[in-house]
Amino acid sequence: MRNSRIEMAKIAGACGAEISGVILSEIDDGEVAEIRAALNEHGVVFFRNQVMDDDQHKALARKFGPIFIHPNYKGTGPDPEIVTIRREPGDTRIVGEEWHADTTMVAEPPMGAILHGLDVPPWGGDTMFAAQWAAYDSLSDGMKRLIDPLRAIHTDRKVAGPRAGMNAHRSTKVREDADWQETISLHPVVRTHPETGRRGLFVNHSYTVAFEGMTEAESKPLLDYLLAVGHRPEFTCRFRWEPGSVAFWDNRSTKHIALNDTGPHRRVMRRVQVAGDRPT
Ligand code: SIN
Repeated sequence: MRNSRIEMAKIAGACGAEISGVILSEIDDGEVAEIRAALNEHGVVFFRNQVMDDDQHKALARKFGPIFIHPNYKGTGPDPEIVTIRREPGDTRIVGEEWHADTTMVAEPPMGAILHGLDVPPWGGDTMFAAQWAAYDSLSDGMKRLIDPLRAIHTDRKVAGPRAGMNAHRSTKVREDADWQETISLHPVVRTHPETGRRGLFVNHSYTVAFEGMTEAESKPLLDYLLAVGHRPEFTCRFRWEPGSVAFWDNRSTKHIALNDTGPHRRVMRRVQVAGDRPT
């Protein structure tokens, strides 16, 4: 029987746990299983003082599943399996600036992402996460009955492509070329987590625009309500980055937001996404 060296400490009531006693570039199968279980339970897990190069970061992600290649960043950097998230002084827009789960415009959104802090500002630039199972559980039975059968339209038109016009305002470039095409998918408004069976809200600011069969104007009041419930303070946790910190989040059960409050400071992170399945 293996003796685990891993220690875990919750950082907030609803989600988020910091894990210590593990070197991510050297993890074994037992540690992978423990981290997966922690991710399922806490929605997002954090590590400190990790040293990883590009290949070690990708190898870590592959322990949890195939790497997801983000269609809107393909061709914007040297390695399609890596997105460097860079915020330079003066950038008015950043990646992940609205509450979202990642890349939900695709039919099979990534199950999670592993983000490594490379150049971390002395203050600001925190990332917040929100437990979508806790948000769903807080709803009345009547509201649950109303939204359980609904599906929602997810599109990337607000975050990529020429109309979104992000590149003029931020250092991390996204596809804005003339060949870019909007990607749209329908997903259930309430998603059952494939590993825990827990039900959670699955709508977000960046990608969800309407309910199936309804106009955007008709959808807006209920959608706005669900989006706001989804990040009520008591469902969130907030992560303060240090150089070498790593966050690994589960897009199937949480949403997150990056804060653009680093003023004159640079912030550089390396992100690798893990492929996921079709939400049900
Ligand atoms: C993201 O949404 O993937 C970026 C999060 C961050 O930079 O903190």
